[in-house]
Amino acid sequence: MPRRFVRHAIALVLVAFAVAACRQATVRQTVDIGTYLGGQASLSQATPVFGAHGMVASNSALASEAGAEILKAGGNAVDAAVATGFALAVTYPFAGNIGGGGFMNIHMADGRDAAIDYREIAPLAATRDMYVDPATGKLTDKSLVGHLASGVPGSVAGMAEALARYGSLPLAKVMAPAIRLARDGFPVDSALYRSLRGNRAVAQFAGKDLFFPGGEPLAPGARLVQSDLARTLEIIAAKGPAGFYAGEVAEALVAEERRGGGIITMEDLARYKPEWRTPIRSTYRGYTLLTMPPASSGGITMTETMNILEQFAPLPPYGSAAYTHLVTEAFRRAFIDRNEKLGDPAFVKVPLEQLTSKAYAKTLAAGIDRTRATKTPAFKVAREPEHTTHYSVADAKGNVVSTTTTLNGGYGSAVWIPKGGFFMNNEMDDFAAQPGTPNMFGLVQGEANAIVPGKRMLSAMAPTIVLDKDGSVLLVVGAAGGPRIITTTTEVILNVIEHRMSLADAMRAPRLHHQSIPDTLRYEAGAFSDAVADSLRAMGHALLRTGGLANANGIMRVNGGWIGVREPRSTGGAVGH
Ligand code: GLY
Repeated sequence: MPRRFVRHAIALVLVAFAVAACRQATVRQTVDIGTYLGGQASLSQATPVFGAHGMVASNSALASEAGAEILKAGGNAVDAAVATGFALAVTYPFAGNIGGGGFMNIHMADGRDAAIDYREIAPLAATRDMYVDPATGKLTDKSLVGHLASGVPGSVAGMAEALARYGSLPLAKVMAPAIRLARDGFPVDSALYRSLRGNRAVAQFAGKDLFFPGGEPLAPGARLVQSDLARTLEIIAAKGPAGFYAGEVAEALVAEERRGGGIITMEDLARYKPEWRTPIRSTYRGYTLLTMPPASSGGITMTETMNILEQFAPLPPYGSAAYTHLVTEAFRRAFIDRNEKLGDPAFVKVPLEQLTSKAYAKTLAAGIDRTRATKTPAFKVAREPEHTTHYSVADAKGNVVSTTTTLNGGYGSAVWIPKGGFFMNNEMDDFAAQPGTPNMFGLVQGEANAIVPGKRMLSAMAPTIVLDKDGSVLLVVGAAGGPRIITTTTEVILNVIEHRMSLADAMRAPRLHHQSIPDTLRYEAGAFSDAVADSLRAMGHALLRTGGLANANGIMRVNGGWIGVREPRSTGGAVGH
């Protein structure tokens, strides 16, 4: 028997054992995902973890342990999520942050749903054309690297606000694991080493001595102690958001901005407020989806896509040309609306009701030709760095939290705040810095997302919660990866509720991505066979095989507890309680 088949057979037997051991009974596996792996992920990386009383899944095993520690200490899912968020700022400085922003989606077992938007905002001195070179009329890279790239950070205010309203423990208690990790340090692993090696821009700024001692990235096995960050976290733990948005931490941030030509002021920091939002609530074949409204585009675009796909019952099998075509066409239509119509609702009128309505989806679905790709204009693809991080948390009572947080690019703007000990975001690039010109994700966006002081830049983050037909939690999921957040989160959900995959298989399954512009279907190895690729080309699709698309961390309710699965393509850990 060829070695490849033996490997797949062993893999499938191990999956079966793991799943059985985890007592996963809610969703039956009917798709042989081994067929689609294409050798891109090892089985051990997708091992599901069981927790009878709770679960935390994130891109850092140490941060997940921090969350699980708080669950064990009697905290609820919100307490654990905030503990995980602060710990990620220490152990996953690539995307975890206090110098960035994010979105948190909360479902409490008593039926309360809430979403908090702690997206960064454009500083008061920001201008519409601040990234356009007046001499050439071309975009500069100042929205990506350096002091001018940052929006006013929202993470500390957002996490503290979520804790105050839905948590049960004091801020100092939930921040204790993060403070310990920063103060005592932790061993650098190969993932942190690789991420530093790939982000040498950090070595231009003040963080170089800490992260690039002697000019080289911290080596695996070295201990990373972050004393400045530990002190900043202690101040926040003692004073709450005032410890970040005023006083010595704020002064350190503003001094570094001023020194490097940035524009964030003490007034910007003092004015920052997170916003409570009503989650988008929609249905898909009887399941309920709770997801993020603007200032993220994630929830609307995902809902619109799923509403279109719901018109086709049943969907064709995973991996078929018919399925891939339909999913691509649904994404295309939803992204066309996203790129043109969405922006910060405080500044633009967002047609949320229309875009998420079943009637609208029906008209879009009717326009899909089952045999031909629809065309959208082609643009040059911009570079697409890794970034952002998603974490999912569940507790014994059935409270769940789905959070996505980011600095935007890996290590954000690469600017590190001396005495503060943290990286600043480069989220200003998520605005349409020059409407009609692609940003770093190749997204071409319109006037609705142009830069205005005090405005939130449009995001793709889609922290989502799926309720089963009986109203109990089924899935907590979301992803990192710019626009690929939307497509990956949608696909993980489709894999579970449409293709009846286990969560581990749903996360391992090769992914597709289409964002309307560029008009190219990206796919991971194994997403479909060569024959299907030929059929898709014949239908008019441009195909581009790509490496790992997006980075998801998910939790699924099963009999007797929770299954957690961290992104099989990346690092991290699911930790049960
Ligand atoms: N910075 C990536 C996003 O918000 O979509």
